Amino acid sequence: MSDRVVVITGGQGQLGQAVIRAALDRGLKVAAIDHADVEARGSDACLEISGVDLTDADATRAAMDRAQAHFGRIDALLNIAGGFVWQTVDDADPAWERMYRMNLVTALNASRAALPHLKTSDQGRIVNVGAAGALKSGMGMGAYAASKSAVHRLTESLAEETKSTSVTVNAVLPSILDTPQNRKDMPDADPDTWVKVEDLAEVMLFLASPASKAMTGALVPVTGRV
Ligand SMILES: NC(=O)c1ccc[n+]([C@@H]2O[C@H](COP(=O)([O-])OP(=O)(O)OC[C@H]3O[C@@H](n4cnc5c(N)ncnc54)[C@H](OP(=O)(O)O)[C@@H]3O)[C@@H](O)[C@H]2O)c1
Repeated sequence: MSDRVVVITGGQGQLGQAVIRAALDRGLKVAAIDHADVEARGSDACLEISGVDLTDADATRAAMDRAQAHFGRIDALLNIAGGFVWQTVDDADPAWERMYRMNLVTALNASRAALPHLKTSDQGRIVNVGAAGALKSGMGMGAYAASKSAVHRLTESLAEETKSTSVTVNAVLPSILDTPQNRKDMPDADPDTWVKVEDLAEVMLFLASPASKAMTGALVPVTGRV
């Protein structure tokens, strides 16, 4: 059992659920912040903070302060909340602003809310989720890739700004994850070439651990065998 407390945003999503399971298996304490109202897990090690819109800075700060008050500390923030859209630039209902809010503003608000707490940890960590598909955009990927590029730049900036503290800031850049949604959307693809959420969870929990202290500002591709 570790005393370390990790806050996980997007905890009800596919990746979020896998990271929560892996964190609890390691004996970490978890505060999971998400949109959805969920049933509490009934575990002393896991606090579910539901009904939070992370694009709302005040609501995000209140949720983070609740996690801090509950466990008495926050050692790591894993910014998993986010989303994807495929649409071409001429789409009648452009999703660029929606993607920006969903992917960048959620991570920004959570990071700003967590930083005062993380700075009191002797090994504070922020782990963001960027995207390999944002390194070079393609057809229909503009809104998503632009928003995840912003997450990459947030990671680099905050890593520089926290170098005089104990906090490190890194990001994973996954390719396609093996999720039920992706299997439904791409029925002809071979999911064996995709990244399993459990495998990405391992990389994220390494970056959230004291063992990764020599890394900050890294954008780490997690692309399986693609
Ligand atoms: N799936 C992939 O192939 C893939 C590839 C590269 C990167 N990623 C990134 O990996 C992360 C997780 O992906 P996933 O497939 O696990 O997605 P997911 O299943 O859709 O989970 C995302 C979670 O984030 C929550 N969320 C979104 N906006 C929020 C907000 N404003 N406030 C609070 N919660 C919010 C969602 O809640 P609601 O459902 O209630 O909105 C959902 O629980 C995302 O950042 C995604 O962009 C995914």
